[in-house]
Order: sequence, then structure tokens, then C-alpha cells
Amino acid sequence: MADPTEPLRWTRAGAPTLADVRAYALEVARDLDPGSRYVRELLAVIDASADVDDYLRRLSDAERTSEFKQDGSKASSGERGFSWVDDETWSEMDVWERTLSNLLTGETRMMWAGDGAPDYARLPEVLGALPRGGRVLSVPCSTGKEPFSIAIAALRAARDDLSVTGVDRQAAYVARARSGRLVAHHRDWAADDAVRFLVRDARGRATIAPQVLERCAFEAGDVLTGALPPAGAFDLVSCRNLLGYFRGESLDLAITHVFARARPGGVLLLDPFVADAPDMRQAQERIRAAGLVRRWPDLSFFDVPA
Ligand SMILES: C[S@@+](CC[C@H](N)C(=O)[O-])C[C@H]1O[C@@H](n2cnc3c(N)ncnc32)[C@H](O)[C@@H]1O
Repeated sequence: MADPTEPLRWTRAGAPTLADVRAYALEVARDLDPGSRYVRELLAVIDASADVDDYLRRLSDAERTSEFKQDGSKASSGERGFSWVDDETWSEMDVWERTLSNLLTGETRMMWAGDGAPDYARLPEVLGALPRGGRVLSVPCSTGKEPFSIAIAALRAARDDLSVTGVDRQAAYVARARSGRLVAHHRDWAADDAVRFLVRDARGRATIAPQVLERCAFEAGDVLTGALPPAGAFDLVSCRNLLGYFRGESLDLAITHVFARARPGGVLLLDPFVADAPDMRQAQERIRAAGLVRRWPDLSFFDVPA
């Protein structure tokens, strides 16, 4: 396995300085909640670092991330990015991706194992009502667990005609999703029939079953620019655990691009924070203005007007 602390392949001209990294973090932060502790804590890590190598060492420091890696609800002090991937994925990420992953984390679990579980329980019913050959978009997909979960719900609903495309801004997450190998999380095994869909390989690593992986495709894309391949509208668009990071014009842009990808008469799956939190009034206004109808009052499915 690659050493996550090995020298990086810089993707911008020349090796960046700490000041470049700080400027990049502030550029990304312009789209985000100005009160975000993720931004504050990452800036503190940058400011405590002697140079870029020291900064990167801190981001993957085993001691500082070990507790948080076991339990994502535990506080971290700014090293969240490394906590949600494994050494192999981390080693594929350059300094910009590692920085980005601390501001908008790759946090993800199989959907039955996180706060999306109530929505997930209804997903087979929602998928079962989609037209034959229906298409689902899952953005952002992180390392693949959300699209895999949706494909599993489709199989549970006997809908092996449905396909799921996962899209994410982080190239290393997309590559990892394509591999079908899961970033380990003990709660992913909590479903009664998990062993039907998750397979332990010879090295003890969890891999998604072939009948699930073959229904999924993965692409790099960005909700802020609207570059969300593939083209066309989808019968179901799932956008969970991303919009809540954004504020102001960036939130508006992201909503415009995401909502536009659900066809008239289709379905949007958001998350409880976006659907209900007072901080997300701007998003709730847009939901109303688009005429979206909440299908169940306590869940995050919205029907798009035909
Ligand atoms: C907390 S994860 C959510 C993943 C998945 N939806 C879930 O709930 O399990 C947030 C993801 O958003 C991605 N992301 C951040 N900014 C993005 C953007 N502008 N466009 C697309 N994806 C983005 C990150 O790379 C990360 O994988």
C-alpha cells in the first residue's frame, strides 16, 4: 500500500507554499457557511504548520485522527478529511484534494447506517414506481456508498432495470467508487441482508457485490459549475449532505444545477437538514418556489411537478 506521507505529485505548476494552500482554503470557504468550524479549524492547522510537508503530516497524523476515524461523531481538530477515507485513497489525493476534503468531507456510510436510514426504508417503494429503464443521479457520491445503497434498494424492489450514476467533485473518491471497494465502516454491516451485497475479499476488505456495481457508473462533476455528467434529466436525483455546506449565491447556484437535473414528474431526495433546518430557509424557499411537493412530512423526498 502506498505511504500516505510520501511526496506528492503537485497538480498545479511548482510546489505550493503554505500561503498558496491558505489562499486556496479561503477561496473554497467563500462558498461555505461563514460560521463553519471546519474552515476555522483547518485554518488553525495551516497556521500551526511550519511548511506544506508539516501541514500534510498533521492532516494524516495517526494519533490525532484515530479516535475520530472510529467514530465520526467525535470531535476532531481539523483533520476530518483523512478520517473519512483510508490510506490508499488518501495517497491518491494531492494537496488541493486533501485540503478540500477537510472543508467538505467525504463522510459517507451505506444509507441504512446513517441519518438517511428513515428515507432509505422508503426508497424501494419510491424506486419501484419509477418508469422501466429509469435513471438515478446521486450527487455527491463520495466513495460510492450512496449510489451503491440506491442500487441495492432497486434490487430489493426487483428493479434491476434501473441504473445509478454517482458524481463527485473529488477525483480520488470517484476512482475509489469505480473500484467497488468500500472504505471500511463497521456500521455498514448493520443491515440484515448486508452479506448479500457486501463481500469480504481474500484480504478482509469489503467490496460491493458485482450485481450492484454493474448497475452503477461514476463521473467527476461539480454542483457549483453545473458540470454534472452525463447529460439529460433523471427520474430520481439524490442530493444529500452537500447543500447544507453552502450559503448565499453558492447555495442558489448549487440548487439551480441540482434541481434542473430531475425531470418533470420525477423525484428529488434531499436530506433532513436542507428540508427542515432554520439555517436552510433559503433552500426551503427554493423548494417552495419550484413547486416541489414533500411526499411524506417526516422524510426528505420531494415530487417534481409534471
Ligand atoms: C458529506 S459527503 C456526502 C456523500 C453522500 N451524499 C452521502 O451522504 O453519503 C460530501 C461530498 O460532497 C463532495 N463535494 C464537495 N463539493 C462538491 C461540489 N461542488 N460538487 C460535487 N460534489 C462536491 C465531496 O467531495 C464529498 O464527497
